[in-house]
Amino acid sequence: MRIIRCKDYDDMSRKTANIISAQVILKPNAKLGLATGTTPIGAYKQLIAWYNKGDVDFSEVSTYNLDEYLGLGPDDPQSYRYFMNDTFFNHINIDKAKTHVPDGSNLDAEAACAAYDELMAAAGPLDLQLLGIGRNGHVGFNEPGDSFSKGTHCVELAESTIQANSRLFDSIDDVPRKAYSMGVQNIMSAKTILIAASGADKAQAVYDMIYGPVSPQCTASILQLHADCFVVADEAALSLCK
Ligand code: F6R
Repeated sequence: MRIIRCKDYDDMSRKTANIISAQVILKPNAKLGLATGTTPIGAYKQLIAWYNKGDVDFSEVSTYNLDEYLGLGPDDPQSYRYFMNDTFFNHINIDKAKTHVPDGSNLDAEAACAAYDELMAAAGPLDLQLLGIGRNGHVGFNEPGDSFSKGTHCVELAESTIQANSRLFDSIDDVPRKAYSMGVQNIMSAKTILIAASGADKAQAVYDMIYGPVSPQCTASILQLHADCFVVADEAALSLCK
């Protein structure tokens, strides 16, 4: 793992955006794995700014998002598809047909997950997978458990994740209890992985990811086994890693 130490959230966002734009400049038809959540918002804003300046072109890029809430369709403002359109895709010249998010409106979990895995298998390995990390060490919605999941699967969200994500809903009761998520094998198949982290509330998870045993109790720890993984994190998130 290579650790890129950043001053604060803005610095982390710029460095994350730098790596993504370098990937797209080097390979215009790059396949990117993308994440939602608060962590990548600054990086997406920075990429939009560079796009507006003419510095980066997304016309040939294709994207594959990590996860989606079960039961939320693309027009639901709480869905991750809506988030991606609103935060990023609507502001750049990406072809929406080349952007992919698991289909939360398909309530047939087996079919929805198999369809996403087939799509990813047909695409081949992603060039760059962007990840955030949950306070409990999750990546995608691969919650702490007894084993690592492989392909896309339907997840029962951990109580701590429901709590953490409730800040984005009117009430905690509105947070969906289930989601579709890429599995660890999908994520580990990417050629390069960039995991971004910001804030003191991520410090323990970041420490466990880097120094802890490789264990499904901290899903992100599996990234220690990836041959090309960057951790881009700010001082607060790295505060336990001296
Ligand atoms: C989002 C995702 C999650 C988040 C993680 C951190 O697509 O897969 O693993 O990256 O929960 O979320 P934030 O960035 O909101 O702290």
